[in-house]
Amino acid sequence: MVTNASVQSAVSKGTVHWDPYDPRYFANPYPVFRRLREEAPLYYNEQYDFYAVSRYEDVARALGDRDTFISARGDILEFIKHNTPMPPGMFIYEDPPLHTIHRGILTRVFTPKKMAALEPQIRAFCADALDPLVAGGEFNFIDDLGAEMPMRIIGMLLGIPDEDLKKVQHFVDKSLSTEPGKPMDTSGASLGGDLYADYIDWRAKNPSDDLMTELLNVEFVDEMGTTRKLRREEVLTFIGILAGAGNETTNRLIGWTGKTLAEHPEQRRQIYENRGLIPQAIEEVLRFEPPGPAVSRYVARDTEFHGTKVPEGSAVVGITAAANRDERKFANGEVFDIHRERAAHLTFGYGFHNCLGNALARVEGRVALDEILKRFPDWEIDLENARLSSTSSVRGWETLPAYAPNAKRGARRSKAAAPETPAPAPAGAETWKMTLKTPMGPQEMTVHLTRQGDTLTGRIDSPAGSETIQDGKVSNEALTWILHVKKPMPIQLTFEVKVRGDLMTGSAKLGMFGSAELTGARVHA
Ligand code: HEM
Repeated sequence: MVTNASVQSAVSKGTVHWDPYDPRYFANPYPVFRRLREEAPLYYNEQYDFYAVSRYEDVARALGDRDTFISARGDILEFIKHNTPMPPGMFIYEDPPLHTIHRGILTRVFTPKKMAALEPQIRAFCADALDPLVAGGEFNFIDDLGAEMPMRIIGMLLGIPDEDLKKVQHFVDKSLSTEPGKPMDTSGASLGGDLYADYIDWRAKNPSDDLMTELLNVEFVDEMGTTRKLRREEVLTFIGILAGAGNETTNRLIGWTGKTLAEHPEQRRQIYENRGLIPQAIEEVLRFEPPGPAVSRYVARDTEFHGTKVPEGSAVVGITAAANRDERKFANGEVFDIHRERAAHLTFGYGFHNCLGNALARVEGRVALDEILKRFPDWEIDLENARLSSTSSVRGWETLPAYAPNAKRGARRSKAAAPETPAPAPAGAETWKMTLKTPMGPQEMTVHLTRQGDTLTGRIDSPAGSETIQDGKVSNEALTWILHVKKPMPIQLTFEVKVRGDLMTGSAKLGMFGSAELTGARVHA
């Protein structure tokens, strides 16, 4: 019989240890990934109770064998371990037959041709963002490009041109005030200002030739055998997937392009002189520094790696970032080389769930690099003011300031690098220390609230930043409000809490990811 202890000794041979939450590994996980590949190709972490595979063949197997390694419990370790309920239609977390049906719908409307057609708009966005910065010689790969561009491009793809944003807003304003004397409709996401939800309704009344209209009109055979169109909430889920899967990842790709090429100026010079090298340079950045370092799966039936049993019910982390440097697949895998012989990396996953947006991410990465090189042939990274993000699912730069040689440094302050000193709380505000028990672990927040009659205003400070609450309401000791957070993915949180003296209890709905309990304690000045 295989016991945990025997598994431990069979797989980890000695002292190699990998804790995916240890910040020391974010900065440079590659030495430990190399050790995992060589010393513990099937690694078991007792503390968090998960297995990890790191060799190319093993990761490809974990992603390709969908009967053994399923997605229904999520592809992020925390979701699998906490058995987080997945909303229907989140097909990235589905298995057949639902995954096949839902992915099939998106594949029909979200075509590589449509993505490639966005190139002029991506170029125009980069030019607008970078042109004003050329004279000063300073720019930020994240603040100026990565954080904005992917979201704007998804907006364009869905067919929300800038001039329409106003029309949508007008439609929302009108729809909230059409029936005098009746309370406002507070159902759905529109009150929180969720542009996409509002836009679906507007687009249904104003069809065009964009992706949103296609999603509203596409007909498919559902799991009951019925031919039908997508419901409003299903369209919203699809858009949520596109926005969630495509923003932070592409943002990180742009950051890693800046960082890696700054460290390889000779190769950057070659690309500058021959732009035909851009596609292979982006491929090499994707291999060398994948924005998502791992993809996880739930083990649906007993299996084994390297002669050791992995029991049904386990979580397996496929470390794509380790597999991408496996010397069994990539000669000199630890070396960044834009001229290497092309072999498929695993950055966009593998098999049935492989990334549907890879063509878009590639166009965005290539165009961004081309437009940067046009204006800044050389750059240095300001490492003192750069900051690496620390989520376990996406690894990359939160802010990455760069300078052209001879630029006067520091003239422009990075938004994100600026020290985070939240504005003082408004007069009369109550302050709470709150803990939200999310599937990703406990999140600490400081909540500043002001009650005026039945209206609640305020803001929440957390390590991810400071956000103003919306639609706050007071009913005796019951408080409700909405918060839109942008990191680690854009999501709407709906809070419902009860206050008793100095204690707060309640829950927050986490967009598509179910809800999380919370507790809070009043802070006395
Ligand atoms: C550099 C940028 C990107 C990276 C590194 C990336 C990575 C990935 C990975 C690893 C998967 C597979 C997940 C799994 O097997 O569980 C995936 C799936 C997916 N990605 Fe991306 N992605 C990127 C950009 C995008 C973009 C721009 C979009 C769309 C706007 C997108 C949409 C999707 C979708 C819809 C899926 C789910 C496919 C399925 O489950 O069948 N991604 N992505």
